[in-house]
Amino acid sequence: MRFSPRPKRWDNIETLEETDTICWCIGVDKATIVQAINEGAATLSEIKSATGACTGDECAQKNPNKRCCSKEIKALIARYGSPKENGYV
Ligand code: FES
Repeated sequence: MRFSPRPKRWDNIETLEETDTICWCIGVDKATIVQAINEGAATLSEIKSATGACTGDECAQKNPNKRCCSKEIKALIARYGSPKENGYV
């Protein structure tokens, strides 16, 4: 018996690869967003300015989650940003 692989969960930042796309409208991958966070971007607005992610308007057509990528970007900030910058300290 063969099992087919599970479909990728595009809304789970923990299982996405570095090269996986986060913002489908602009074409920004996970590694680019994490790099921006590592370079000091601590808010969605700063990620937008640094990478162009979350500035598109075709999310329903291009994003497999059928919505804007802001939720995944905020999750990446929470996961990879410093606790102080995220207001947790
Ligand atoms: S998926 Fe990022 S702006 Fe549409």
